[in-house]
Amino acid sequence: MSDRIRVLIVDDIPETRDHLTKLLGFESDIDVVGAAAGGVEAVELAQRLEPDVVLMDINMPDMDGITATEQLSARVPKAGIVMMSVQGEADYLRRSMLAGAREFLVKPFSSDELTMSIRQVFRREHERQQRVAEPVGAGGRGAAPLEREAGRIVTVFSPKGGVGRTTVAVNLAVAAAGAGQRVALLDASFQFGDVGVLLNLNPRSKSIADLIPEMESLEPESLENVMVSHSSGVRVLLAPPSPETAELITSAYVRRVLERLRENHDLVVVDSWPWFHETTLNILDISDTILALLTLEITNIKSIRLFLEVADQLGYPDDKIKLVLNRADAALGIRVADVQSSIGRKIDHTIVSDGRTVVYALNRGVPFTLSNPEAQVSRDIMRLARSLIGEPVGTTEAPPKQPAQRKSLFAWR
Ligand SMILES: Nc1ncnc2c1ncn2[C@@H]1O[C@H](COP(=O)(O)OP(=O)(O)OP(=O)(O)O)[C@@H](O)[C@H]1O
Ligand SMILES: [Mg+2]
Repeated sequence: MSDRIRVLIVDDIPETRDHLTKLLGFESDIDVVGAAAGGVEAVELAQRLEPDVVLMDINMPDMDGITATEQLSARVPKAGIVMMSVQGEADYLRRSMLAGAREFLVKPFSSDELTMSIRQVFRREHERQQRVAEPVGAGGRGAAPLEREAGRIVTVFSPKGGVGRTTVAVNLAVAAAGAGQRVALLDASFQFGDVGVLLNLNPRSKSIADLIPEMESLEPESLENVMVSHSSGVRVLLAPPSPETAELITSAYVRRVLERLRENHDLVVVDSWPWFHETTLNILDISDTILALLTLEITNIKSIRLFLEVADQLGYPDDKIKLVLNRADAALGIRVADVQSSIGRKIDHTIVSDGRTVVYALNRGVPFTLSNPEAQVSRDIMRLARSLIGEPVGTTEAPPKQPAQRKSLFAWR
C-alpha cells in the first residue's frame, strides 16, 4: 500500500465521473486511476487496476452498485468501497454495508466530505491489514490503542429506538464523573435530543448548534463556551433546540467536535441516534468503545445481529463493541442464554429493569445514579462505568443461570 490513494470512480453519468475526477485532481495524496460507467466494467477494471478505494454509484443500468460491491468484496478484497447514492435510506445503507461497502455518501456531498471519506476508508483498510498481519499475542488484541493520553470516546448505540440509550448515556456519564473522571456528554441525537431533559437543564442553554458558524475552525475555547455544566461535574454539549437545525450539522463537524472533546476529558460519552446514516457511522468509527444496547425483544435482537454484521464489514475489532442488555427482566419470555446463542456473542453487561426508579428519576430530572445510588439499576451502571474507566469492577457478571441450550430465537433459521 503506497502513500498515495488510488481511486476508481464508478458512475453511469459521464458528467459525474468528470466532475469527481476534477475534484480529486486537486488532492495531492489522491490519484484517480480509472473510471467505469457501470458495475460490470467496474469489476473488470478493479481487478486489473487494484485501486485502494472505489467510489461506487448505486443505481446503474447494467449491474447495480450493490451487486458490483458484492463481487468486488470477493474478488478485490483490499479495495475499500465508498457508496454514493441520492437515496439515504437506512435500508440502502444497510444493504450496501452488508455487501461490503465501507462508507456511504448521500448525493449531493461536498468535496470535503468526499475526500474525508476516501482517506478514512483508506486508513481503516490499512489498519485492518496491519491487524491481520500482526502476530497474535503482541501487546494484546484489537483495540488499536491510539496515543492514549487523549480521552476515551464511548458511544451508546442501538439500531432501534426506545431501548434506553439516553438513560444509560446520562447515568453512565454521571457515574464516571462521580468516580473522579473528567467527563463530557455529547447529545448526538441531534433532532430530538433528550439529554437536557434527563438532566433538567435549561432548554434555552447553548447547544452544538451555536457553533455551526465556526464549524470549519472550531477553537477549543468556543467549544468550552457552549458546554453546560451539570452539578455532577459532567460537561454537556446539548443537541440543537429545533429539529431542522440538525440538518446543518455535518459529519466532519461532529468528528472535529469529538476530537476536541477527547483532548481535555478522560471520557466522552455520546448518546446517539438509531439511524444508520453517515454521521452515526462517523461517530461509531471514531469511538473507542461502542455500547450496543439491546433489550429482550425479538425485533431488537434481530437488529443487533444485523448491526454486528455491519460492524464486522466495517472492520471494527470485536472488543470495540460491548453488548449491553438493558431492562433485563426474567419474566419476558426470552432467556439471556438464548439471546447469546442467537447472536453468537456473549452479553458483556446487564442492567436490570426498574421502571419505578428510572421513570421517577426521569420525571424529576435527577439521574438515578446520583439520587438513588443504592438501587440495583444504579449499581449496574456504575459497574459498567468502572469497567470503562479501568477500575476493578468487583463481582463479575454472573453467568447466565439457564443451562446453555442451542436454540435459535428465529424460527426461520
Ligand atoms: N433499565 C430500565 N428499566 C426500566 N425502564 C427503563 C430502563 N432503561 C430505560 N427505561 C425506560 O425506557 C424508555 C426509553 O428510554 P430512553 O429514552 O433512555 O431510550 P432511547 O433509546 O434513548 O430512546 P429514543 O429512541 O427515544 O432516543 C424510557 O421510558 C425509560 O425510562
Ligand atoms: Mg434517546
